[in-house]
Amino acid sequence: MRRQKMNRLNRAHPPAACGLCAKRATSHEVAFVKTTGGKSVSAAPDSLEQIQRKLSNDNLADLLELWSAEQGRAKKRDLELIAAALPFSPQQRLRVLDLCCGPGDVGRAIRSRFPKSRIDCVDRDAFLISICIGVNCREGISGNAFLRDLSSKAWLRELPREYDVVATANALHWFKPRRAAALFGEVFQRLRPGGVFVFAEPASAEKRLASGFAEWKAREPARYSRENWERFWSRANELLGYDHTRQLGPRDPGRIDDRMSVPGWIKLLKNSGFEPIDVLLRDADEVILAGAKPRKFSPSSRRVLAGKRIGRRKFLPARQH
Ligand SMILES: C[S@@+](CC[C@H](N)C(=O)[O-])C[C@H]1O[C@@H](n2cnc3c(N)ncnc32)[C@H](O)[C@@H]1O
Repeated sequence: MRRQKMNRLNRAHPPAACGLCAKRATSHEVAFVKTTGGKSVSAAPDSLEQIQRKLSNDNLADLLELWSAEQGRAKKRDLELIAAALPFSPQQRLRVLDLCCGPGDVGRAIRSRFPKSRIDCVDRDAFLISICIGVNCREGISGNAFLRDLSSKAWLRELPREYDVVATANALHWFKPRRAAALFGEVFQRLRPGGVFVFAEPASAEKRLASGFAEWKAREPARYSRENWERFWSRANELLGYDHTRQLGPRDPGRIDDRMSVPGWIKLLKNSGFEPIDVLLRDADEVILAGAKPRKFSPSSRRVLAGKRIGRRKFLPARQH
């Protein structure tokens, strides 16, 4: 039944070239898929094509600037680190997946260090991924864009199997712990042996250290501001002609949010078979972690892959705010 529904949707939405690239010879293609796993994507009143038509080059530049302010100053450093840490030669033609790409900052940061690379992008939000597609097309970055909801494993359909890099920022904490654990396994499967998963996400302190950490954090400059969030979305809504933020739906109270500790994130990597794993950076808000898919599996990673289950309580300390 579900398969029939997907097939109907695929016939209705065949892959097509990006509207913004129509006059440019790029290979950026968009896979139109409205639902995955039988769940509705938070559908915007406009289709992906309609949104793309509304995003002129000037609008894109405007939106990127507002997004960059909304993401906070430290994002630039985080992106540079994510790209710099990848253990590949800048001359390599890497196959990269920008997971939950939003406007595509992560993929472009990697591409600027690895200019021959191909950047695929996946996100469920038609507006944010349209910015990504538009900017990547404008910059001549090749790759495919997939409009998919990662809340079930159906997002993997049609995605290539052998990525060198899967990278993401500020996205995994939107998932419930159990789904995040499964997602780490799905990422692992899509990497080639020797491939790397790198991500930047919010992280809490371990319970016994939390109060001192919170005290210190309160004195640090805040990374995000409500005003910058509103500026970005007011401009977006003005361009779109409808309130896109209402399409985002309510925040799932069971999502990880900022309640995963650094050891919790590490455990998710470990339990999926990543080895070695490193903490590249930790500041007041975020942690940047990387894990490699082993070229050869050690007996311990074989045991891990044989099926450890991950429960919520194991990773999330009590809510600290
Ligand atoms: C804070 S934004 C970060 C975007 C981008 N990674 C960046 O660093 O600019 C979070 C992104 O995760 C995406 N996202 C959240 N839940 C998702 C899901 N279930 N499936 C696909 N994308 C999702 C959102 O649409 C949004 O683009």
